[in-house]
Amino acid sequence: MKNILVCGGAGFIGSNFVRHMLAKYPDYLITVYDKLTYAGNLDNLLDVSQNPRYSFVQGDICDAAKVDEVISQREIDTIVNFAAETHVDRSLMEPGSFIMTDVYGTYVLLEAAKKHGLARYHQVSTDEVYGQVVVGASCETDRLETRSPYSASKASGDLMTFAYHTSFDVPVTITRGANNIGPYQYPEKVVPVFVTNAIDNLPLPLYGDGLQVRDYQYVLDHCEGIDLVLHRGTLGEAYNLGTGQETRNVDMAHMILDLLGKPRSLIQYVKDRPGHDRRYALDCAKIRALGWQPRHDFAQALEKTVRWYVDNEWWWRKIKSGERWQEYYKKNYAGRELTGQAKAG
Ligand code: NAD
Ligand code: TYD
Repeated sequence: MKNILVCGGAGFIGSNFVRHMLAKYPDYLITVYDKLTYAGNLDNLLDVSQNPRYSFVQGDICDAAKVDEVISQREIDTIVNFAAETHVDRSLMEPGSFIMTDVYGTYVLLEAAKKHGLARYHQVSTDEVYGQVVVGASCETDRLETRSPYSASKASGDLMTFAYHTSFDVPVTITRGANNIGPYQYPEKVVPVFVTNAIDNLPLPLYGDGLQVRDYQYVLDHCEGIDLVLHRGTLGEAYNLGTGQETRNVDMAHMILDLLGKPRSLIQYVKDRPGHDRRYALDCAKIRALGWQPRHDFAQALEKTVRWYVDNEWWWRKIKSGERWQEYYKKNYAGRELTGQAKAG
């Protein structure tokens, strides 16, 4: 029996992971522990809310007493930590909350894992810890050369996780995933913001020249990789998770517009994000050697994602009509000057 505390399980990837684990392992118990920040949403877990092996506790990972109580009362043996502040643009506006949750919160969970002698602490991390990669692909042993407050906070969480393994023998693993897309992604990240804007015939704000490169993977492929590392990964090690397929933002925007039958004139070139990482690329030989490979290429992942947003307006219209989201949208985009059509790429 595994009794897993999924921190941040009410967010995008965490909720997909919970659904995956409940379906795949009929004897596992899952407790979601989530603060329900702007990004946490119990609608993401509606379809599992009646499952007797699932339960929810609202709480902050920075609250050591509450974390301690939940682990004791529920006899938790494993933590999988998705809880984080996750959006680069927000990290440029308010870095403090990133340091609190992504660094201090990770420390609190590691202390709890040490104190309770948990069987595993798994840290969900990101390809952004390597910084921008102009050529080649990042291996797990590469230096962490972060450039944004988000990636610096996540890298600090990784280093603290390794430190607890080295210093206190806490059984840790880390996964570093490339950009995820799929159901229930909060519409601040580029794909859901572009898809939902396009549905409403609103402009798609493309930063800079739109030639930045990302590896967009399907969220359930990422969840399967985390599951594999949880069961078969080597303690004290990190594993990259990505498709290896590179996509430029402008091409991703074109594909979204084509899938929705909308004109490319909806693309609006706007002032670039400060410190914008040009390219991420992961070497995924290590996780592939464990037996993982993504089930979706970028086109398949994007098509499924677009279809989900078309079919699930109930989910995102509630968010986008809210004051909190509109305030954020105004703050991030209203002051961004238009730069006109960039050089053709
Ligand atoms: P998200 O923003 O959708 O969800 C984050 C969740 O964490 C929310 O439910 C939020 O309420 C919760 N949370 C935030 N602060 C908390 C706190 N102090 N205590 C408890 N809960 C708190 O994020 P996501 O996109 O699902 O990302 C999940 C994890 O995966 C993050 O650690 C992120 O760094 C990592 N990651 C994300 C991507 C991506 O493309 N989204 C890629 C690689 C790695
Ligand atoms: P994002 O989804 O914020 O993820 P990342 O953490 O990789 O930055 O952005 C993905 C890419 O899309 C990144 O190169 C920035 C770009 N982008 C835009 O062009 N416009 C937008 O409105 C957003 C949010 C991002």
